[in-house]
Amino acid sequence: MDKLFTAINVGNYSLAHRIVLAPMTRLRTIQPDDIPSPMMADFYGQRASDGGLVIIEGTSISITARSYLGAASFFHDGQVEGWKAIADAVHAKGGRVFMQLIHGGRQSHVEMTGGVAPVAPSVVPFGGVALTKDGFVPASPHRALELDEIPGIVEDFRIAAQLALDAGYDGVELHGANGYLVDQFIQDGTNKRTDAYGGSVDKRVRFLRESVEALISVWGKDRVGVRISPSGEWGGISDSNPEATFSHVAKVLNDYQIAYLHVIEPRVKGDDTLHDGHPPVACSYLRPHFKRPIIAAGGFNGDGAVAIVNSGDADMVAFGRHFTSNPDLPYRLKHKLPLTPYVRAGFWGGDETHYSNFPTYDAESKR
Ligand SMILES: Cc1cc2nc3c(=O)[nH]c(=O)nc-3n(C[C@H](O)[C@H](O)[C@H](O)COP(=O)(O)O)c2cc1C
Repeated sequence: MDKLFTAINVGNYSLAHRIVLAPMTRLRTIQPDDIPSPMMADFYGQRASDGGLVIIEGTSISITARSYLGAASFFHDGQVEGWKAIADAVHAKGGRVFMQLIHGGRQSHVEMTGGVAPVAPSVVPFGGVALTKDGFVPASPHRALELDEIPGIVEDFRIAAQLALDAGYDGVELHGANGYLVDQFIQDGTNKRTDAYGGSVDKRVRFLRESVEALISVWGKDRVGVRISPSGEWGGISDSNPEATFSHVAKVLNDYQIAYLHVIEPRVKGDDTLHDGHPPVACSYLRPHFKRPIIAAGGFNGDGAVAIVNSGDADMVAFGRHFTSNPDLPYRLKHKLPLTPYVRAGFWGGDETHYSNFPTYDAESKR
């Protein structure tokens, strides 16, 4: 049997296979308070498998951390029951569930942040977008964080991690990818600070370190993961030397002995398209620096996933788009069954259509 379909230990958990649901923002919380909806519990429950790992979509840790209307957040009491129902739905199927915690940083708009300017490590012109009631709109002008504001954001990560623990999750993943706040600190295209949080790569990863420490203070090292996207393009992010920067990140995270490192391969442009023919490269240069499980993501099909796990560059593979339309993706991949094509029109916002109404292979073949 291919290694992809064999068991693996991740932190405290023993997983039955190595296929992971990638975090995907689907904009289906109930407004105006970002209440997790019953259809979200259906969606995640459907994608859970006995002993499989599900990672919940980017979940904002405060009102000022939000980027997209309808996206997930977890910072007030009214959300607790909805988040519990999602964890329960995954557990009912025998799955494990980690919640991805995010601060959007400069990828935001005053309508999403409660009327205040989005924050970032530094002010650097940004042509990206946020999502408001008027649809995708240019992000609002951002401002640089004051030194004394940074501990407050780290504390928001800690509080959200505690909420996830109390709501019955199995762990948390820090969103350090795709040009959001943690990534804005890591990469030198967006971090122009000259204080303790900018300059050398070690100073640029200080915010990452403090955020990871906040999550570990709640969960312990074995139930914390981190997602990164070396050379990713989403969010107007860039670094003068991604390989050196992210190798350092991998070493730092290795020292913390966190549960896993989740790596989005640079062949994903971030706008739902790929650099055609570009092989996965980031995992292979990060592998020597990170000894615990690596989850590879971005542009994988069944054969590619089998290959990267067999090569040893990664230990697990997260699937995004294929998992949207194939709730039983691990089963289909294992038995080489055809995949239902995904429907981009249903990715962001809407009802159950193209979200929680995709049948399993077995249900479809009985029709
Ligand atoms: C609809 C959609 C929403 C996404 N939302 C998130 C998110 O909330 N957090 C994140 O880290 N990545 C997010 N991503 C990126 C995916 O996790 C994944 O890395 C990307 O889709 C590439 O993998 P794939 O080729 O298997 O789809 C999103 C992708 C899609 C298509």
